[in-house]
Amino acid sequence: MKKVLVYGVACAFLCTTVLIAVASDKGPAEMTLQSTVDPAKKPKPVLFPHAKHQETLTCADCHHSKGDDGKLVAYAEGMKIEKCESCHNKAAGMPKGLETFKKAAHKNCKGCHKETGKKELTKCATCHPKKK
Ligand code: HEC
Ligand code: HEC
Ligand code: HEC
Ligand code: HEC
Repeated sequence: MKKVLVYGVACAFLCTTVLIAVASDKGPAEMTLQSTVDPAKKPKPVLFPHAKHQETLTCADCHHSKGDDGKLVAYAEGMKIEKCESCHNKAAGMPKGLETFKKAAHKNCKGCHKETGKKELTKCATCHPKKK
């Protein structure tokens, strides 16, 4: 009887640990995005509801990687997810229009927001909230 209990407790512990590990792979639910490698003179941070986007989109809508040839590698489950600006920075030899965090983000974020046809979503203040 005692043994069963010990195994039960051990399993409950292990199982929760595994669940937490899987959940944390999804990254933070809310993020403040701020360019640090090629920052503008006036910072314009973004409040990004990550979890809310994960409810309706796939990881591949935003995440990808880079191959040895410098070309884009599509997202695959379990892939290491790096910060956008670790590749999208002026020193990394990215093509024009994608050479900073700002440009890559505007293309990805604003691009999709535009496609939704909802005007509100393309306004600067939707992503860059005005300071109160
Ligand atoms: C759909 C979301 C979105 C919209 C809409 C948007 N931006 Fe951004 N913008 C971002 C993200 C993400 C970044 C990269 C992170 C950061 O530095 O804020 C960024 C970066 C910037 C930066 C660089 C900030 C820095 O510190 O280097 C500027 C300047 C900027 N945006 C201006 C604008 C202006 C002006 C508008 C409206 C015409 C606008 N953005 C609309 C998401 C958005
Ligand atoms: C709408 C776009 C979008 C979607 C969809 C999305 N993410 Fe993200 N995710 C981001 C952005 C932007 C960041 C911040 C990257 C940065 O700081 O440069 C991020 C950060 C992360 C991080 C943290 C990386 C780090 O080191 O800071 C993880 C982990 C992550 N995402 C996992 C996922 C997984 C798993 C999915 C799918 C279930 C997903 N994301 C879906 C945009 C997205
Ligand atoms: C490991 C490196 C790497 C990381 C991290 C990375 N990218 Fe990219 N990205 C690339 C490469 C390589 C290309 C292809 C460039 C080309 O066309 O030659 C690309 C292309 C793009 C494009 C244009 C192609 C398309 O799919 O529309 C956008 C937009 C983009 N990235 C946004 C992002 C955003 C937003 C993030 C962070 C959530 C991010 N990238 C993270 C390497 C990276
Ligand atoms: C592939 C499509 C897609 C991409 C990529 C995407 N978004 Fe969105 N985003 C949406 C849609 C759709 C909504 C509206 C969701 C709703 O109203 O429920 C939204 C809503 C938002 C909102 C408003 C949330 C609210 O509570 O009203 C913010 C802020 C935002 N996105 C920021 C970003 C940023 C920053 C990025 C890039 C890092 C990004 N989004 C990339 C589709 C996208």
